[in-house]
Parts: sequence; C-alpha cells; structure tokens
Amino acid sequence: MPPSTATVSGLLDSIAPVGRDGGTGGYRRPVFSHPELELREWFEAEATRRGLGVEIDRNGIIWAWWGEPMPGALVTGSHLDSVPGGGAFDGPLGVVSALVAIDRMRERGVVPSRSLAVVVFPEEEGSRFGVACLGSRLLTGLLTPDAARRLTDRDGNTLADVFAGAGVDPEHLGPDPEGLARIGQFVELHVEQGRGLVDLAAPIAIGSSILGHGRWKATVTGQGNHAGTTLMSDRADPVVAAAAIVGLISELARARDDARATVGRFEPQPGGTNVIASHVDFWIDVRHPDDSVTRGLVDQIAVEAAALAASYGCDARIAEESWSPTVGFDPALGRALADLVPGAPVLRSGAGHDAGILAARVPSAMLFVRNPSGISHSPEEFVERSDADDSADVLADVLEGLL
Ligand code: HGY
Ligand code: MN
Ligand code: MN
Repeated sequence: MPPSTATVSGLLDSIAPVGRDGGTGGYRRPVFSHPELELREWFEAEATRRGLGVEIDRNGIIWAWWGEPMPGALVTGSHLDSVPGGGAFDGPLGVVSALVAIDRMRERGVVPSRSLAVVVFPEEEGSRFGVACLGSRLLTGLLTPDAARRLTDRDGNTLADVFAGAGVDPEHLGPDPEGLARIGQFVELHVEQGRGLVDLAAPIAIGSSILGHGRWKATVTGQGNHAGTTLMSDRADPVVAAAAIVGLISELARARDDARATVGRFEPQPGGTNVIASHVDFWIDVRHPDDSVTRGLVDQIAVEAAALAASYGCDARIAEESWSPTVGFDPALGRALADLVPGAPVLRSGAGHDAGILAARVPSAMLFVRNPSGISHSPEEFVERSDADDSADVLADVLEGLL
C-alpha cells in the first residue's frame, strides 16, 4: 500500500462543502440526513482505501478495523453529525485525525500488538432525535431500543423509519455487549470547546472530566386566538409567559456559580404571524459540575416556571429528555496520555462526548485540540491548520504508545 500523503487539514477541506450553508457558513448534518450519510460514505471509502475492515453494527456505529475485530482492542474516533449551524471541526476532527494517525503509524513501521479500530458514532449531538450520544447509549444499554424507536424528529419521522432508511434495522437496535467488549480502551480526539488552550499557549490538552448535563422539554400552554380580535386583557398568551420563563431560567442559573442554562430552541405553535399561539415548546440545556446542583436548579425552574405561567393564565410543564451525569475519565489512562503527550495541560470539558458515555464502562480518555476563540456550535469554530495537522501526529504517538 503506497504511503498516504493525506493531512488532517486536507481531508477536512475535502468534506468542507458537505452540509455547509453558503450564507452562514454553518453546518447542518443531522444524523442520517443526506449530508451526514455522504460523510459516512466518505469515511468508509477513506477507511477502505487504507485497507481497514469496515463494518456497521446493529446501532449504526461504523467500525473501521486495523487488524481483526477482537475483544480488548484500542479504539479511537468520534462523530460526523453536527448541531444545526455547527462548525467544521466538532466531530469530524477526531474522525479525520484518527485516519491520518493510522497513516503516520504505518509510515513509522508500527505493527500493532492488538487490533485498532476507528469508530464513528451516530447522533452524538442529539440534534435530530433529542437524545445526546444516542449511538453510544444504545451500545452500552443506557438507552433502551424501545425508547429509541419511539423518538421522532421535527418532521415527525420516527427514528425507526430513519434508521431503516439508512440500512440499520431498527428491530436490532440495542445493547451490544460483544461490541463493547471489543473496546479495551477508547481515546477520542476533539476540538476544544471553550477558551483554554490559547491562554495556556498549548496546542493540545488531555481531558479530565465532562460536566454533567441534561435536556428538558418545556411546554407552556395558553389560549390560541386571533391577533386582531382579542384584547390584551383577554389573553392567555403562552409566548409571553414562555419568554418570561426564559428570562427566569437565565436569572436562576446566574445565581449559581459555574451553572449554565441555555434555551436555544423555542417553537410557538402553530406559529402564525396573526395568531396568538396555543402553546410553546422550548428546550432547556442545564449543566454544572455537581449533579445535585443541576438537579436542584431544574427543580427550581420547574416550580417557578409553573407559578410564572399561571400569572399569565397559562400552564407550564417540564419533562426530562436526556441526562448525562458528570463523569471523570480513567485516571490510569489519563496518566498514560500525560506520559505520551508531555506538558499537555489537563482540562475539564463543558461539552458532552461519546467518550463520556463509554467512560462508565471502559477506560476512556480525551484529547482536545486548540480552538483559539473557544467558540463552538457555531460557524466561527476554528482550528489552525498546523494544529489540526499536528493533532494526527500526537494521536499517533498516543495510539502507538498504548498499543
Ligand atoms: O452538547 C454537547 O455538549 C455536545 O456538543 N454534544
Ligand atoms: Mn457538539
Ligand atoms: Mn462533538
């Protein structure tokens, strides 16, 4: 096999147009959408070109094997789906860097003592079906197949139908102990999300932990009516109540150090310009290093939102959709990475990752690549080409050292 001349920045350039909004520069790559399916096919072709054995498991996770599939393998990889309006690096950087790291190890003449696999997890962002890290949750049994099959996207497509359309039989979704046993250790490389490395003048960090985080769907119900025939004194307008609740959420989170609460999706129904809405759906993302603080904050939001809605003649209810407790990565694996990446700072992640789900079951670790502004989940997410390219060499050092 001729040596590969691929670079991380070059491969990222080659997929840059896929799912990119020409106006905003943001990406829309929901799981099993055309753009994400295109990326999955691209990954399979790149893996096959490298002589890796490609298989897609019962949960739609792609495994690209250097060596025979076996228990206790060394596994790396990330995801290819994006949030709406996301950046170019969140997910793809870890996948592309893994492919190029294999190129680098081959150039060095590395002969793995055990098999190595690059994985691509579906629906890490939870942007289509609402549950973050859906693929790794199914793999580990954290999400039951029945609950998964019941999920629907904004257009009412069921997960079962969408997965079937992508060639993943929804009747076979579910925990995969054999697949999980194949992961002896998991190392995910990911773009840094939040500003840290640029202030430390370091190109790459080792992850220590991931902040606990959850998602709750709020529904504020009022009285739908005509915008022109309903006096202000006669209204029970759920949009006005929901807007006040969004302000309350921000206030309650600001009152707690290190808490984060976000409403990024707000959907009045039916959504007519001359229509007083009948109800509003909006989603709340709440995070804090201490899970009891997160839970307490959400409980307080639920109680105070109900009272505030009532003052507008409306009703407010909140339902949990997704929850990930604060998780620490494997200390021994973290020490091994510290030896293999000398001088790398150790940073906690405010963002969730599949490595955080796997960490409860297999030794897992993360590497974060410098993002000068720290901005993510935005077209402004950025990694210098040299840092992107160098990340594959560092990942190769880590994988070689762990093999
Ligand atoms: O939302 C997150 O923390 C991650 O980007 N899925
Ligand atoms: Mn993300
Ligand atoms: Mn990500």
